[in-house]
Amino acid sequence: MGEYILSKALKGHYAVGAFNFATLEVLKAIMSSAEDCHSPVILQISEQAMSFMGDEYLKGVISATRKQATVPVSFHLDHGKSLDSVKRAIEIGCDSVMIDASMLPFEDNVSITSKVVEYAHERGVYVEAELGSLAGIEDDINVSEENSVYTSPKQAKEFVDRTGVDSLAIAIGTKHGAYKYSSESRLNMDILKEIERALPNIPLVLHGASGVEAAQVNKLFELGVDIRGAKGLSRDLLEEVSSSNICKINGDTDIRIAYLIGILSDIQENKSNIDYRKYLSSGMREVAGLVADRMNLYKSAGRA
Ligand code: G3H
Ligand code: 13P
Ligand code: ZN
Repeated sequence: MGEYILSKALKGHYAVGAFNFATLEVLKAIMSSAEDCHSPVILQISEQAMSFMGDEYLKGVISATRKQATVPVSFHLDHGKSLDSVKRAIEIGCDSVMIDASMLPFEDNVSITSKVVEYAHERGVYVEAELGSLAGIEDDINVSEENSVYTSPKQAKEFVDRTGVDSLAIAIGTKHGAYKYSSESRLNMDILKEIERALPNIPLVLHGASGVEAAQVNKLFELGVDIRGAKGLSRDLLEEVSSSNICKINGDTDIRIAYLIGILSDIQENKSNIDYRKYLSSGMREVAGLVADRMNLYKSAGRA
């Protein structure tokens, strides 16, 4: 197995952005920023995205990207729910896979994750698993409810020791999608520190880490898309965690928002255009701008 992209990040105190794609255009936009920023990058694909693109097409796209890339690029299965999905992802050429059995009881999570680790490691593929529940922290949630969603540092240590996973996704207060917080975003940094103490050599992963900035939400509203009330993680928190043992920061919602803003703005400004390459290129530029911004925030720029 070659060196794990996240081991370098752990040593270097930065985080690699893991960006979801489901079309060739989004993948190319992400890659163009990685190359401009001289940054390592993780391109991740969900089960749904894999089906949307089709396995054979994806295989070709992955192989072409690798041939052309001038920076370290790693393909990753995002939220694999079964050994079958993992097998499929490895078959199309992923370098790492996530098995997400976090919704199952602890012992079942250990059992399925261990099977995936055995299968993947035999094939030179790294494994990320998840422990805890990505429920977010609402203002009206009480302390014991709040604690029940976080990853337990003690369980995290036992989980990693028993499964042999290469990285661990933890729950410290984030949530998937556009609506993460009703007021200020926050993360439980105390839990993060405890997990770091229990597992100093394991790269940690932050899911649900899109910023969903107010300016973007307002821009979308002007363009006719109403996600008012959506709010993500603050830039300060993202910057802070990228120097911690969190070595992979996942973002999909921000990509979707940027792509949509680029496309819709172009369509509004060019009312007689019917060439999709034009408005898709505008979408790609927005995605590339977002990704470059994140690579600087996560301090992965210049680390390629
Ligand atoms: O965490 C989930 C990602 O945002 C993927 O979403 O399953 O709709 O492709 P998806
Ligand atoms: P966001 O919904 O915050 O972009 O999170 C995406 C993610 O965690 C993919 O695994
Ligand atoms: Zn996720």
